[in-house]
Amino acid sequence: MNNTITNVINEEVHSSEEELERVRKSLEIAKGLIAERSKDAGRKLTYHVTTFGCQMNARDSEKLSGILEECGFVREEDELSADFVIYNTCTVRDNANQKFFGHLGSLGPVKKKNPEMIVGVCGCLSQEKSARAKILESYPFVDLVFGTHNVFDFARLLVMVLTRENTKGRGSTVTEVWDDTDMIVEDIPVRRNYKFKSGVNIMFGCNNFCSYCIVPYVRGRERSRTKDDIIDEIRKLAADGVKEVMLLGQNVNSYGRGLDEEISFAKLLTEVGKVDGIERIRFMTSHPKDLSDELIDVMASSEKICRHIHLPLQSGSSRLLASMNRHYTKEQYIALALKIRERIPDISITTDIIIGYPGETDSDIDDTIDVIEKVEFDGAFTFIYSKRTGPPAASMPDQVPDDVVKKNFDRVLKKVQDMSTKRAALIEGQIRDVLVEDINRQDPSLVTGRLSNNLNVHFPGDSSLVGQIVDVKLTECKGFYYIGEKV
Ligand code: 5AD
Ligand code: SF4
Repeated sequence: MNNTITNVINEEVHSSEEELERVRKSLEIAKGLIAERSKDAGRKLTYHVTTFGCQMNARDSEKLSGILEECGFVREEDELSADFVIYNTCTVRDNANQKFFGHLGSLGPVKKKNPEMIVGVCGCLSQEKSARAKILESYPFVDLVFGTHNVFDFARLLVMVLTRENTKGRGSTVTEVWDDTDMIVEDIPVRRNYKFKSGVNIMFGCNNFCSYCIVPYVRGRERSRTKDDIIDEIRKLAADGVKEVMLLGQNVNSYGRGLDEEISFAKLLTEVGKVDGIERIRFMTSHPKDLSDELIDVMASSEKICRHIHLPLQSGSSRLLASMNRHYTKEQYIALALKIRERIPDISITTDIIIGYPGETDSDIDDTIDVIEKVEFDGAFTFIYSKRTGPPAASMPDQVPDDVVKKNFDRVLKKVQDMSTKRAALIEGQIRDVLVEDINRQDPSLVTGRLSNNLNVHFPGDSSLVGQIVDVKLTECKGFYYIGEKV
């Protein structure tokens, strides 16, 4: 390996600024290496990013794509025919792990036929020791494994893979997973999936340690970005045509803790609202325990903040909520949700509910149903409790048998669906502003847009509308979505 490459790869860094400098150097080297490979191949090299999981991962994947495109790769829609395939994984529930290993399994024979193909794995699952060991032992064809804390360093890792035969020998997996970090390195290339909307990370990690959840173990401790960095990024996005931003954090309501500047999430929202060109602001996710009156006031008085809040309930049983380490009771949750509804009448409240948490009884399910009825959720994601290694709920007694969980799940799901259908129908016939996001996949004579309250509407239109905010009459409610017409 030449000296520059070795120096950059091995360079020690101690701050975010030094990291950024190393990222820049790595990008330059990676560009050169990819250009050489493209020349040999007589064509541009292609990449495919497969994303599992949440909005955080979706945003990280935009960064991975940005770095790959900066290095000279072009996007390939088919996972199995790309020169570089990277899986950005999720491990919040076991079915996410199984899905990923299914994909990896199908890739094995493809990689055998095409040994030049590069396979990478990153994201939450790589942070888990046992899952990582499984990748390294059972899928030795994987070329690169890294985690959630060093996505920004992807170009350097790529250089390590591309120059590997000179160091460790072809076939050995480059693995670099950090347990945690206090650094935040942004301002790296990003390839957005949509020109007109973008996620913006405002914080990373989680300190809540809900008893069932693996996220704090794989995403590390909570750290907020500074207001100036966030606003700077949003200004640049607005200048680049972005109209809607989604502020991302595991618990946005604790934004600002640990920063030198005293700033709350509500104040940050107010500042984001001042950025010219940004017409819609969303955020995800809000923990009920930290949701302030100040936030409700700011939402109520803002024209730009969307009429939607995702407020995970998890369970309606105060006993289970205590065991889950959620720091609110059933009554406190209901009071909070009703206060939000009273202050912001057209708001849509959605939630997450876990069924089958250890020790859950029929009476706990009754409590959950009771909250659904009282709050009238506009939508809910219902999840079957999944045992994860690390969080304490895994070793709690009274794990609920599968057949009981299934019965309870169906009961809760039915209630949630009845409620959301009832809520969605309330605005039938109204005219609402809609951000047009896509041409409809099933029927290309239609476009699909999103209301401020997060409902989708399909209506006749063409690609010239994509990215625009238009008024649409909601002619027919189809339960979870609308059919409409542009007015
Ligand atoms: N099992 C099932 N659902 C879970 N969630 C988090 N951990 C688990 C688990 N072990 C759900 C919570 C959270 C959402 C993102 O995922 O409802 O709000
Ligand atoms: Fe998991 Fe709780 Fe943190 Fe959400 S707040 S990521 S459920 S630990």
